[in-house]
Amino acid sequence: PRKIIIDTDPGQDDAVAILLALASPEELDLLGITCVAGNVPLPLTSKNARITCEAAGKTDVPVFAGSKAPLCRPLITAEHVHGQTGLDGPTLWEPDMPLAEGHGVDFIIGTLRSEPAGTVTLCTLGPLTNIAAAFNRAPDIIERVQEVVMMGGAYFEVGNITPAAEFNIYVDPEAAEILFRSGAPITVMPLDVTHKVLATKPRTAAIRALNSRVGTFTADMLDFFERFDVEKYGSEGGPLHDPCVIAWLLQPGLFSGRRVNVEIETQSDLTLGMTVADWWRVTGRKPNALFIGDADADGFFKLLTERLARL
Ligand code: BDR
Ligand code: CA
Repeated sequence: PRKIIIDTDPGQDDAVAILLALASPEELDLLGITCVAGNVPLPLTSKNARITCEAAGKTDVPVFAGSKAPLCRPLITAEHVHGQTGLDGPTLWEPDMPLAEGHGVDFIIGTLRSEPAGTVTLCTLGPLTNIAAAFNRAPDIIERVQEVVMMGGAYFEVGNITPAAEFNIYVDPEAAEILFRSGAPITVMPLDVTHKVLATKPRTAAIRALNSRVGTFTADMLDFFERFDVEKYGSEGGPLHDPCVIAWLLQPGLFSGRRVNVEIETQSDLTLGMTVADWWRVTGRKPNALFIGDADADGFFKLLTERLARL
């Protein structure tokens, strides 16, 4: 199986991504989960990650707390989307699972140094603070990364937190810039694709019908999560942003995109955090990322439901 680290700020969609990975041990060897401040502050994201592992009955994965604030900006959170806990929907509990000892950034650095070069994939589901901090502190690890697969940014869909920017990039644009300039191989799941992967009522009902702890936990999260996009945008269901990252590793054939150059706006107040993706290749700048633009949503939900049934 492919070795991965999930870097995350759960978040209902983050939690579904973690469940999808935990349900797929044949393909994915989840070495650890590193938490970052984003949707909610770090104490909550690092608690929600452990609740998610416990819901899946997989408590042997180490969960680390990482950065509690962006590299050089105050934290912006998204309780308006995810609720006060970050994981509103199911009835939550205090996790028994302890946090792993040490800082998430040290775990990322240590793992990339100890595993053979080119064998560890970083799956990023939140602001890129931990990854940038690791690359800054230990530039030797950059060439050891197999791939960074990230949820973040937007092209045609543009922004969700501002008219120009997607949340994960907007919260820590300097961190995103460090990643996109690092030379590490990057695959991006932007809003353009995640807004096609909607947890509609029948899709959520199929997950609830699994009639298992994980099925109910997931459906409760999705029922809460959809309210934001349905009420605000008239969408047909909540977009499953972060699980696209894991689905890509399991079944890349569900997605299509193209290699483009992506630069991050870090200066302008108006467009801060914008992912300026050269989709039509109008600059001479070298592609630095595979930007995904389309997904087979039915195929995605078939995969997700079938995998959740295994937990
Ligand atoms: C991203 O922001 C968060 O609210 C979600 O978890 C996802 O990672 C979508 O813009
Ligand atoms: Ca997230």
